[in-house]
Amino acid sequence: MERQKVKQLLSEMTIEEKVGQLTQFAGLFYSTQTNDVPVTGPVDFPVNDEIIETSGSVLGIAGAKKLIDIQKTYLEKSRLNIPLLFMADVINGFETIFPIPLGLGATWEPSLIEELQAVSAKEATSAGLHVSFAPMADLVRDPRWGRVMESTGEDPYLNGLFAEATVRGLQGEDLTQNSEHLAACVKHFAAYGAAEGGRDYNTVDVSERELREMHMPAYKAALEAGVKLVMTAFNTVHSVPATGNQALLRGMLREEYGFEGLVISDFGAVQELIPHGVAEDETEASKKALLAGVDIDMMSLCYSHSLTQLIKEKKLDESLLNEAVERVLHLKNDLGLFEDPYRGTSEKREKSTLGHASHKELARTVAEKSSVLLKNNDILPLTKETTIALVGPYADNNDLLGEWSIFGNMDETATLKDKLQEAFPTLTFAKGSDLYERNQDLLEEAIHSATHADVVVLALGEGRDRSGEGRSRSSITLSPSQIELAKKISELGKPVVVTLFNARPIDLTELEPYVDAILECWHPGSEGASAIVNLLIGDANPSGKLTMSFPRATGQIPVYYNAYNTGRPLPAGSEERFFSRYIDIPNEPLYPFGYGLSYASFEYSEARSNGDKFDRKQTLQVEIDVTNTCNVEGEEIVQLYIQDPVAEVTRPVKELKGFKKITLAPNETKTVSFEISEPMLRYHHSDLSYSSDPGTFYVFINGSSNCTDTNKLTITLTEA
Ligand code: GLC
Repeated sequence: MERQKVKQLLSEMTIEEKVGQLTQFAGLFYSTQTNDVPVTGPVDFPVNDEIIETSGSVLGIAGAKKLIDIQKTYLEKSRLNIPLLFMADVINGFETIFPIPLGLGATWEPSLIEELQAVSAKEATSAGLHVSFAPMADLVRDPRWGRVMESTGEDPYLNGLFAEATVRGLQGEDLTQNSEHLAACVKHFAAYGAAEGGRDYNTVDVSERELREMHMPAYKAALEAGVKLVMTAFNTVHSVPATGNQALLRGMLREEYGFEGLVISDFGAVQELIPHGVAEDETEASKKALLAGVDIDMMSLCYSHSLTQLIKEKKLDESLLNEAVERVLHLKNDLGLFEDPYRGTSEKREKSTLGHASHKELARTVAEKSSVLLKNNDILPLTKETTIALVGPYADNNDLLGEWSIFGNMDETATLKDKLQEAFPTLTFAKGSDLYERNQDLLEEAIHSATHADVVVLALGEGRDRSGEGRSRSSITLSPSQIELAKKISELGKPVVVTLFNARPIDLTELEPYVDAILECWHPGSEGASAIVNLLIGDANPSGKLTMSFPRATGQIPVYYNAYNTGRPLPAGSEERFFSRYIDIPNEPLYPFGYGLSYASFEYSEARSNGDKFDRKQTLQVEIDVTNTCNVEGEEIVQLYIQDPVAEVTRPVKELKGFKKITLAPNETKTVSFEISEPMLRYHHSDLSYSSDPGTFYVFINGSSNCTDTNKLTITLTEA
């Protein structure tokens, strides 16, 4: 329908019908066939049929037949034939599940993320969905928070590239013409990742400068990529809950960033303005949320119960209601729903799309690229003739899809044991321990089974029940029973390779000395087991690098690479007292941002540049030679960091400004170059202006954030 007709349609709607467009409830309220609907928040409140029948969108339900039926029934009752919108969380895949986003981040390959998100969109739309609640662009620094798994990590620039790639992959070029794409929704606006103490839903208190410098870039990247929706966060921003925050939503998001799309609250967040202590009741919560610019109230009864009255009593201007409804109608129109409310969904299309072999193939490739080799004392890859004992609670465990795989199929997911025994038919297996509980019989059996092996592959980790929303932990170690198992197995004196399946950085300090290799596999998705076996036997070579630091201890949190120097930075190697340090552990994390090994090994030359001075109109070229010193091909992620050592405000010790992923044949050398230009040196000053200052900058090029002076250059931005 032509865009102008939306206004016409709006003018024909009653206030009640308009309010209906601004509410969203979970699929489980829709029909008896939907009692298998995943629940993503508290649902214990009374919703009557009238509310459901007038509500304009549905949350968290999918399946061609189901959604066609619901849409049909709905339209039969809709006076103006306005179709329903179906929204859900399609985060790392729909039925074909890819690694969790923290793993996707470790690929450092935004184009790959775009490709897999297009596959997710294809599957999700075949099952009738119109909107996905992705990308999650929250910057994360606290692995106690269960939701770090949904983020791509601790770097604003990298998060921005992934957010942009996700939007492009999900939305494609033209939503109206191409029903294999769906609308993306960037979340959680804003700074949800900064919850104090890593406790979910907790207070966020960041300065305006920190907000703009660290948290906003990734949301902005999604906006610039044309994302259709924005979801508000549960937390406060400058002491006002985001969902009722006019300065944040109307001020920053709409006026400053120019966002014209739809704003949806997070699950129940309008109602939560009451316990937050900024609204007395549902009426005041509704008023504050609409005034702030929240168009759709997801999963609370505030708008349904009070917006109509607020408008009729003229306590809220009807123009506010109209503009919100207009945005909902525009989204429906952009999706082509007025022409085809089913967007071409059919059971036939769904059947031929879901879990297609090419999707699975991609899932395997992505899982290979997302795994990070943290340690390897020359034991990996395993040679084919080796006798392997596979031990551990994650060895025969199909909990590999991650917490957001709500439409994935765990029962059909192969375990590491299934796939490893195809490669090693003589493999023995023993569980050794439950994931979180000790079991003496299992422990003894495992020791016995490992006795005759050449190498022990120990599959450890943390299940989906310990990660994701509402699953913060006060300690991020592996369970004591798994540590005990690793220690006992290591006493056998055989090489021990750990495959780690988890969804947050884990404190590996206690485990690390006892094992010879550690492969971080994350929750790797539907094809994760095949991918991990390929890596273990060297059919694939690890190339992933961490995008979130692995702390040495829970007490070291937050620890992140782009930190500040402080007035008393600890000199390298020093243990003196009056410096910024812990007296019981080093300052550095166990494994830093940007770190990850390969079966190849790479040597970096000294960095060089084509000059050391440049002005605002010029660029400088910096380059380095990287050599593969091994006889296997490998991929390396060459990273560019910049430090601004003297500025108007204190600046991070380094910031990622670029990277290149290269493939090097055995003994091959490649020159990797980067262009440095003035915009890369800009930052928010104390008055919040965003610009650069002339002066000296340090440039580092390395295979990790852990840079040394060898690959450091000094350059100068001149006044002219
Ligand atoms: C939540 C989450 C959000 C999700 C929404 C809908 O509680 O915070 O990320 O998109 O529910 O499922």
